[in-house]
Amino acid sequence: MDVSRSPDTVSPAADTSGSAVIEVRALTRRFGSFVAVDRVSFGVGRGEVFGLIGANGAGKSTVIRMLTTLLPVTSGGATVAGYDLVRNPGEVRRHIGYVPQLMSADGDLTATENLLLSARLYGIPFREIRSRIEQTLAAMDLAPFAHRLVKAFSGGMIRRLEIAQGLLHCPAILFLDEPTVGLDPAARHAVLGRLAKLRAETATTILLTSHYMEEIEELCDRVGVLREGKLVAVASPAELKARVGPAATLDDVFAALAGEEAKSPEIQAYRDVRLSRRAARSHG
Ligand SMILES: Nc1ncnc2c1ncn2[C@@H]1O[C@H](COP(=O)(O)OP(=O)(O)O)[C@@H](O)[C@H]1O
Ligand SMILES: [Mg+2]
Repeated sequence: MDVSRSPDTVSPAADTSGSAVIEVRALTRRFGSFVAVDRVSFGVGRGEVFGLIGANGAGKSTVIRMLTTLLPVTSGGATVAGYDLVRNPGEVRRHIGYVPQLMSADGDLTATENLLLSARLYGIPFREIRSRIEQTLAAMDLAPFAHRLVKAFSGGMIRRLEIAQGLLHCPAILFLDEPTVGLDPAARHAVLGRLAKLRAETATTILLTSHYMEEIEELCDRVGVLREGKLVAVASPAELKARVGPAATLDDVFAALAGEEAKSPEIQAYRDVRLSRRAARSHG
């Protein structure tokens, strides 16, 4: 990886000037000649919940993989938790938690055993391990299941355990790639509730992706819309809706800015008619 070539031993003081805890600058990633992420720039403030939305293949996971140092950038860069992504990936890793898109907890271990592995991975001091595990299990509402095998967990419990794994070292920023995909509504609700509580109680900055517009609306202060690798809008859910039409929902925003409609004038014309009818109905 390119990033591992840069010196990781020198750790200049974190740049904490300004309130942005993530500052992304013209971030670009190519796979061969294909541009998966194209000069994306945005900032995320301390304690903010920022959502990335976009169709499959829009580049959401690639942005997250670069910001978590797992994938080298092609060009551009970012400051994450005050550290330069390219020059100081080790410090970036120490200050972030990452919950990947695919399930990562080990079913043959108990919840506590999974967290013990994470604690070693993150280099948490031995004397702090037990209390950190207890705290994160409680924070994700899993304390009663600490010593149960994970293969007996529901999908929602496994997801909460994986979030606990990402939180064990008390990161300043938590990255979550589709944290609720594949969960039933009750399990999704539980995961979202825990994330809302985390944000309220610890001011952890959260960057997440999701295909569920209702949860983006419920959780996110601001949303970035990716389309074919380009960031086409960044605003609060309310601002995005207002931009699309008087009675627009976030699903309409997705369709207009990120979906097939965004490309086709015919579908856009149809959408405009649909939105104005709905507005007319809601105004009586
Ligand atoms: N390792 C890779 N090699 C080649 N192409 C990739 C690789 N990773 C992602 N891509 C491509 O980059 C684009 C963006 O992928 P991704 O970031 O996973 O999208 P999203 O998470 O928004 O669904 C897709 O077209 C995908 O096929
Ligand atoms: Mg993805």
